[in-house]
Amino acid sequence: MKNNQKVCIIGLGYVGFPLAVLCSTKGYEVFGFDKDEEKLRRIEKRENIVEEKYLEEMIPKAKINVIRDESKMNDCDIFIIAVPTPVDEKYYPDLSFVVSASETVAKNMKPGALVIVESTINPGVCDEIVKPVFEKAGFTVGKDVFIAHCPERINPGDPKWNVTNIPRVVGSFDEKGLARALEFYKSIISAEIMPMKSIFEAEATKIMENSFRDINIAFVNELAKSFDLMGINVVNVIRGAVTKPFAFMPHWPSCGVGGHCIPVDPYYLIEKAKELDFDHKFLRVAREINNGMPLYTVELLQDALNKVERSFKGTNIGILGVSYKANVGDLRESPALKIIELLEQREAVLHVFDPHVSEKSTAASSDEVLEKSEAIIVATNHKEFIEIPAEKFRDKGIKVIIDGMNCLDKERIQKLGIVYKGIGR
Ligand SMILES: NC(=O)c1ccc[n+]([C@@H]2O[C@H](COP(=O)([O-])OP(=O)(O)OC[C@H]3O[C@@H](n4cnc5c(N)ncnc54)[C@H](O)[C@@H]3O)[C@@H](O)[C@H]2O)c1
Repeated sequence: MKNNQKVCIIGLGYVGFPLAVLCSTKGYEVFGFDKDEEKLRRIEKRENIVEEKYLEEMIPKAKINVIRDESKMNDCDIFIIAVPTPVDEKYYPDLSFVVSASETVAKNMKPGALVIVESTINPGVCDEIVKPVFEKAGFTVGKDVFIAHCPERINPGDPKWNVTNIPRVVGSFDEKGLARALEFYKSIISAEIMPMKSIFEAEATKIMENSFRDINIAFVNELAKSFDLMGINVVNVIRGAVTKPFAFMPHWPSCGVGGHCIPVDPYYLIEKAKELDFDHKFLRVAREINNGMPLYTVELLQDALNKVERSFKGTNIGILGVSYKANVGDLRESPALKIIELLEQREAVLHVFDPHVSEKSTAASSDEVLEKSEAIIVATNHKEFIEIPAEKFRDKGIKVIIDGMNCLDKERIQKLGIVYKGIGR
């Protein structure tokens, strides 16, 4: 079956690109459509545009037919929508990408196609936003178009879990849509594919997973602050709690929560619930706590600078790391960007380096940052930063280190006479 089906993926980013590679290696004829011309050019050159190691072996074996003219997708049997679902500056969900991708598919598909939304969406989006686009184009859902939702759970940079082996949940409006979507995912993924009773349940599953993380991270971030006042190291406490072999799952405090998912997805549920006059208080508080962590980090720096008789104004401060997570260059919602903004407002002189983000780096290396700075904030736990020997900080004249990711050797740094402060540590 699969070899005579054509798959078109709309949106070739962190989600769509690995999926396109996977589908091709599993024998599907794959078409890829994206509005970003630069991305398309790189894909044509067979570049690993998401820098994932596991894709290196797969890319040479994969063929993605990049299309710029959307009418060329008209022959496809399966369409997968993997476009962004961000929030605007007021944290209001922006579904315009999902709408425009759906319109592109509806305009170009032939009757009978299966359309799968992989983008993260709140319960009700397939019903209220996606389905009407197809109905408006003259299709009847469950008859000449089949719509399913299979939320992607990919975790960029994860050494073990990736698009090939992460279990999935799938929901649809009708049995045929569900059966076709299940068959498709079973043909490409070596993991459980769980059918959900409805498309709403599938949508809700992903939002629940990411809200769960946001809430738990907010909880440890809050503990980091209160335990700090009590003189208790929260990281050691979490390590202690992990020894309980059941009913505890560690989450770790940090200078903030970034990425396209955790700090964004809860807002989709918060706003959906508002329509029903329900206040998702718990989610709102979690967002507030996590959004406040960059400021808390800057306040820790202020206290530490006081100890060495410095103020923000005019002090050379180094920022190690700009991306939101270790060893990747993804800047979306990165707390480091907020920290930089707050320090600029305070007229500090900044020296920034991220080995994965040249466009935001003002220095050519971490050595240059250390050379020019008196105080350091480690905002991302990139491998390169964890490996910096404590003595190097001292030798370069660093007086203060704020370890926003709790990734450095606290005792060793303190022994060298440097003022060290982690988040709750
Ligand atoms: N990045 C992750 O770790 C991750 C994990 C799980 C789920 N998700 C979800 O998957 C979805 C996609 O995320 P991503 O990280 O791949 O985003 P991304 O920004 O990396 O990629 C999305 C791509 O879609 C393209 N695009 C936007 N509108 C388009 C349109 N109308 N037609 C064609 N292309 C269009 C963009 O140019 C971009 O290349 C989001 O809903 C996200 O929440 C992301």
